[in-house]
Amino acid sequence: MKALILSGGKGTRLRPLTHTGAKQLVPVVNKPILWYGIEQIVAAGITDIGIIISPDTGDEIRQVTGDGERFGCAITYIPQRSPDGLAHAVKIAQPFLGDSPFLMYLGDNLIQDSLANFVEEFLKQSLDAMILLKQVPNPTAFGVAQLDGQGNVLRLVEKPKDPPSNFALVGVYLFESVIHEVIATLQPSARGELEITDAIQALVNTGKTVIAKQLFGWWLDTGKKDDLLEANQIILDATLTHAIDGDVDDATKISGRVQIGKRSNVINSTIRGPVVIGEDCHIENCFIGSYSSIADRVKLVDVEMDHSVVLEGSIIEELHQRIVDSLIGRRAKLVHSPQRPKASRFMIGDDCQIELV
Ligand code: DAU
Repeated sequence: MKALILSGGKGTRLRPLTHTGAKQLVPVVNKPILWYGIEQIVAAGITDIGIIISPDTGDEIRQVTGDGERFGCAITYIPQRSPDGLAHAVKIAQPFLGDSPFLMYLGDNLIQDSLANFVEEFLKQSLDAMILLKQVPNPTAFGVAQLDGQGNVLRLVEKPKDPPSNFALVGVYLFESVIHEVIATLQPSARGELEITDAIQALVNTGKTVIAKQLFGWWLDTGKKDDLLEANQIILDATLTHAIDGDVDDATKISGRVQIGKRSNVINSTIRGPVVIGEDCHIENCFIGSYSSIADRVKLVDVEMDHSVVLEGSIIEELHQRIVDSLIGRRAKLVHSPQRPKASRFMIGDDCQIELV
């Protein structure tokens, strides 16, 4: 069994972060989203993994993720010239996949359930495809499945205006090599992509065995800021262990589960976990509340913050207002200005969102 992770695409919904980097590398609890998928695939016993990359962000993904040694797997990078659809990605990966059954994983998805049981059941039952479904309140944003009374898949539709059910397709699929024959006959959809939902529908139409499994644990498609903050909260809750490797002075109060990385200094601050602080950070006179993740080389002075994610190298100083529900990109600078006239001065990149009190 092989795996194919899709980490190409454009990432428009996480702009501005994705103007300068891959959405699959945006960190959740200081670890790139993509790495959670790789770890779960390896935990399910699959160690031969292909990763689809785009011309814009492929080099960064390759450089950060490497050849797979750190995860105990072998990674083959497969460049896709343009984001022509999930089924197009499978098509160009065919030389890597050969005749092997494979698990396809969308590189911006996070799921709680272990993949091992799905892989085992797929191989044992000699299925042609297995899809995973989750009931969602907003099915129009996803691929949606219509099932019969026994749970068999009748119909799949991509981002329907009028959804036939609230069962969304989760970004994990298992396929036998017959999927390549079907993809070879596909035509681009109205949005110009080769759709994996059309390929699976063609399997259903030709009487192949396609079964749907329901996910009961959490599933996050980290496409937008609030999804990312929710993913951060859930993973901090579920996985963070208490570990203080940096220097914390006597005036600092730490409660709950908190991680502080090497060479980080925390001075006269209150940290209320779960909170993760990376390496080489300077935190002084701050309150850092639950569900915050601070990446490496961040400087926070006189800051109050809750439920927020700050990426590498940012500096926040003397804001005089609490930061909540925020996602602050790499090397951003948010500081108090003593200049007259007393006013806010901005230098804001494209597609940023600022909500002032
Ligand atoms: O997240 C689940 C949803 O993922 C499913 O419910 C939908 O049926 C499925 O089409 C997909 O929808 P998205 O709109 O979320 O797909 P997105 O364009 O975000 O692409 C998903 C991942 O695949 C992302 O990591 C980028 C990558 N990708 C995408 C395309 C279109 C590629 O590597 N190549 C591509 O050509």
